[in-house]
Amino acid sequence: MTEKKKLWGGRFSKDIDEGVAEWASSIAFDQILYRDDISGSIAHAKMLAEQGIISAEDAARMEAGLREILAEIGAGEIAFTADNEDIHMNIEALLTDRIGEAGGRLHTARSRNDQVATDIRLWLREEILSVTNLIHEVRSLLVGLAKEHTQTLMPGYTHLQHAQPVSFAFHMLAWYQMFSRDAERMWDVYKRTDILPLGAGALSGVSYDTDRGLLADLLDFSAVAENAMDAVSDRDFVIEYISAAAICMMHLSRACEELILWSSAEFGFVEMDDAYSTGSSIMPQKKNPDMAELIRGKTGRVYGDLMSILTTMKGLPLAYNKDMQEDKEPLFDASGTLRGCLSAFLGMTGSMKINKDAMAQSAGKGFMNATDAADYLVRKGIPFRRAHEIVGKLVAYCAEKGIVLEAAEPALLQQIAPEFGGDFFDAISLLACMNAKYSEGSTSEARVSEQIQKAEKALG
Ligand code: ARG
Repeated sequence: MTEKKKLWGGRFSKDIDEGVAEWASSIAFDQILYRDDISGSIAHAKMLAEQGIISAEDAARMEAGLREILAEIGAGEIAFTADNEDIHMNIEALLTDRIGEAGGRLHTARSRNDQVATDIRLWLREEILSVTNLIHEVRSLLVGLAKEHTQTLMPGYTHLQHAQPVSFAFHMLAWYQMFSRDAERMWDVYKRTDILPLGAGALSGVSYDTDRGLLADLLDFSAVAENAMDAVSDRDFVIEYISAAAICMMHLSRACEELILWSSAEFGFVEMDDAYSTGSSIMPQKKNPDMAELIRGKTGRVYGDLMSILTTMKGLPLAYNKDMQEDKEPLFDASGTLRGCLSAFLGMTGSMKINKDAMAQSAGKGFMNATDAADYLVRKGIPFRRAHEIVGKLVAYCAEKGIVLEAAEPALLQQIAPEFGGDFFDAISLLACMNAKYSEGSTSEARVSEQIQKAEKALG
């Protein structure tokens, strides 16, 4: 086998150990960056020509060669090799094979350090857009569910105990808020990702008359990184992105945990569509909410990705260190996982059946109108503390008899407190309790429709 000389082989007298070269190479996972690497290189070649650093002819050859390579990679016609370490050197070697000496000029005024940082940012910008689109779809879906269910009563919980009645719409809008914050976080990360490192060179800048503003224009970056050393050392944007992804996964996981509970026989609030459930190999009756469980499970691996990149970066001296090659797998893994989970969540939540009756039935249990019963007495002039005590007694009595507050005999109520009037039962119907919450942001139909309006405006 004839070994080709490494692109950096000048000062070396022997080849890198084959086993370790394969092990140290990143081509297996960084080839995903090929489009970004080629766009970065085309822009770099144009800038070099524009500045008279290389000839216009060389730049044209580079661009034509790179476009050819782009098409061939897209068509699956190119086999990358670990001999060339990473995607950057694979592409440069392919180009030089094709256009000869001109290819050797492409790396003028550039280092792989600013190149790789640029490629990741180009890739991540696109990725953020596609993830944000998915989050947008989830938010729209939730608002759609909310619109259908403003009168669907269900229990609101604290400590997973029945607390106060809410509408299913209100609960979906709480989820909507979580995902809206995720979208905002993504945009925030986008702003700091959209800064161009290219032109920083290895770490201290380059000794050519480059035009980094032109590079930023060509690659559509909103600004140029101000300090060359920071430009090649910084991976904050990767950390921020995985962190935003981890938070979004946590939201998906909490929602999935609720869906898993709600689809159990004990709740029966929702039923997953067959297309998003699985059966058991032994128990014929089973229908398992696997997809929700898998989303909950995959949250752990995105947390792992975050811990991995944080740990990789924590002890690194400036500027580039090879450790930083370890930024890619967690980034790609976290993002791919998040995208997959968002899509699965969309399909699963969009197709599930919502069992209003089971929700209403459950809402009838657990004396969720007890707070409202106390508030009723407050309106009759009784101090809240005493009202709390009176209703506590009433609840104990009803619990003993196995009846709901609505079924307490009027004579008994009179006996407990003469303030109980004929209007008591209307005041404590669950729907009345829900609609009595008229503070801003509450579960009443009026306040929920305000929230829906705001959400629809935000979604555009
Ligand atoms: N494959 C490397 C990485 O992903 C590219 C940068 C290499 N730079 C260097 N000076 N060795 O980090």
